[in-house]
Amino acid sequence: MNKFCLDVKRFLYTLFYLFKEPSYNLVLEELNPKEKVLFYSMPKEDRIHSFLLLKEYRPEVSDENLVYIQKRVIIFHDIGKKFERPSLIKRILRSLSFSIFKKDDSYFKHAAIGSNVLKLEGFVDEVVDIVRRHHTKSADVMFLKKLEG
Ligand SMILES: [Fe+2]
Ligand SMILES: [Fe+2]
Repeated sequence: MNKFCLDVKRFLYTLFYLFKEPSYNLVLEELNPKEKVLFYSMPKEDRIHSFLLLKEYRPEVSDENLVYIQKRVIIFHDIGKKFERPSLIKRILRSLSFSIFKKDDSYFKHAAIGSNVLKLEGFVDEVVDIVRRHHTKSADVMFLKKLEG
């Protein structure tokens, strides 16, 4: 699916779930009680975003530990946005950035902020590091890039 179709599909799903929030069972069954609290501390739009990505995740590795790490990255990579809490309009404009708007530097700060949050919460170093670099072109971030389109 090309990027435009992926963006439109994601936008429609997100819009639907904003009115009828999903049960998140897929996400919750991956998390321990402390991680669940952290998950619900994220804005609804980001919970939905994580849920939709995890739904489409098909591990390309057999290493169980790496799958564990990648799932946490998928679920928590945008947790740094919880302090900014961008409005729905701002999110929509950003999601349209593929053609019209550019994401500014402040947008990318959520990666550093999020990784600090996860470090304080005691997440393993691999999760913390990948979240910090989740808007770079590092090889170990590609699984997320593929999902995000
Ligand atoms: Fe991000
Ligand atoms: Fe994201």
